[in-house]
Amino acid sequence: MPLHALAAVYLRVAPGLDRMGFNPMMYFLALAIFPPTDKGWDVVTNMDQHLAGLILTIIAAIVLAGVCLIVAYRFRYKLLSIFERGVCALFHWLCYRDGRSWSIQWMGHLLLKWPPDLWMYQEIIFETRPDLIIETGTYKGGSALYFANLFDLIGNGRVVTVDITRPPEGWPIHRRIEYLLGSSTSPEILAAIEGRIRPGERVMVVLDSFHSEQHVREELTCYSGFVSPGCYLVVEDTNVNGHPVYRAHGPGPMEAVVDFLKTNPGFVPDKSRERFKITFSPNGWLKRIGDPVAMKQPPRDEVGSTSR
Ligand SMILES: C[S@@+](CC[C@H](N)C(=O)[O-])C[C@H]1O[C@@H](n2cnc3c(N)ncnc32)[C@H](O)[C@@H]1O
Repeated sequence: MPLHALAAVYLRVAPGLDRMGFNPMMYFLALAIFPPTDKGWDVVTNMDQHLAGLILTIIAAIVLAGVCLIVAYRFRYKLLSIFERGVCALFHWLCYRDGRSWSIQWMGHLLLKWPPDLWMYQEIIFETRPDLIIETGTYKGGSALYFANLFDLIGNGRVVTVDITRPPEGWPIHRRIEYLLGSSTSPEILAAIEGRIRPGERVMVVLDSFHSEQHVREELTCYSGFVSPGCYLVVEDTNVNGHPVYRAHGPGPMEAVVDFLKTNPGFVPDKSRERFKITFSPNGWLKRIGDPVAMKQPPRDEVGSTSR
């Protein structure tokens, strides 16, 4: 389209558009999309300047909306997944910064878990039927009691849990729980734990103690060997260091897990365990591949573990 025609159209229509509050650039956009023919130009020049501007702006807006709709439809799944990830990350961030949503109680005992993760533990424990859960990071004992109560329902199972400190009020007493005091990676504690595993027992491990990359790396090295094929090694708090929360934490469990997986093909992150959209253990529900899970009938026996 000749340049002088463009300029003429602009001079004629822009003041009207300005008065109506439209950006004159919209008008040029419309011209770019629909270059006017001579006939069209006559129509434009004979029209009232306000009306011409308005019509062209509406056409441009409709065309733009159409293009956007076509693009959105073409990439709908990609866009939905980006939207979903954004919404989940925002909700995750909101919940994480308000500790009340994950500093919760089980039967009156404090535990630090995201509630949907507890449901996922329940599903895993029922499906994989571990005889023993080894937990690092006891804190107030709420999580150990939760696992023990699930074992009560199943009728089988023990918990051995270790922490470097004991709370002044003590830990909840339960016949299926044994508490060990010491650092999770110390030779004494590792030997004590090894001694608690009975021949043929199915073992699950939950790592929830000190969340530095180095410590989790060491725990993964020391504890992964305890996990039975078909059972889980759960690494808690892989969400910190910007995955997607608490960026200021620095490298932590996620970085340790990513490294661990590079050299341990016997473990795979089970993404189906993240289907509640938000988990505090993204990439941290590690399943030890191997024998299919033996779904043995739980004996309704009493397990003779000690408790303090
Ligand atoms: C995140 S809390 C555990 C939360 C608990 N599992 C729950 O769900 O309620 C971390 C715990 O790890 C303990 N801890 C820190 N360093 C440790 C270490 N080297 N060995 C064992 N426990 C450690 C802390 O004393 C603290 O009680």
